Amino acid sequence: MEKIIEIVRGDITRLEVDAIVNAANSSLLGGGGVDGAIHRAAGPELLAECRNIATARRPGEACPAGEAVITGAYGLPCKKVIHTVGPVWYGGSRGEPELLASCYRKSLLLAEDAGLGSIAFPNISTGVYGYPKEAAAEIALEAVKAALPQCPHIRRALFVCFDDENYRLYRRLAG
Ligand code: APR
Repeated sequence: MEKIIEIVRGDITRLEVDAIVNAANSSLLGGGGVDGAIHRAAGPELLAECRNIATARRPGEACPAGEAVITGAYGLPCKKVIHTVGPVWYGGSRGEPELLASCYRKSLLLAEDAGLGSIAFPNISTGVYGYPKEAAAEIALEAVKAALPQCPHIRRALFVCFDDENYRLYRRLAG
């Protein structure tokens, strides 16, 4: 079945897809950027569920970089939120590319396991975490294209760009 990859501009919290991906931090207890926007739109029940996951795991490392967890979506229009923790950019010699690719791959596999049909990604690590936008976009597109064939349920993958630079980059790289 034809898989659709879309590049869209806008606010991920407004998308009525099955899952949106949150660029979280390893505590899973919220933050700024898209993490803050998602928690604001979802409401306090999302933080409560994240806190339950965090307390069941090692303190401070609820979700290591490159990993992902899935929760409910509460006040958001989507069905599930997949929280993944991108790498902080230290110059590229600390495994950042592999960790970033892992965020996209593991998020897709969680959505597939949940039987979801559509998933929307923000531009993970390209804000507070400082990952160079073009390198991140190339990794994101490549990782999603490589993992989609192992995800028979997933029909649509969207890359949601909040800023112009990312939008132009993704449009150019996605062809
Ligand atoms: N919808 C879609 N994308 C958004 C939104 C939104 N509402 N708000 C911000 N973004 C974009 C940013 O413009 C950026 O391109 O999300 C991308 C990721 O940026 P950040 O949110 O800063 O995430 P990241 O760079 O991965 O840093 C994660 O920031 O917010 C904290 O708790 C978070 O500590 C973690 C860190």
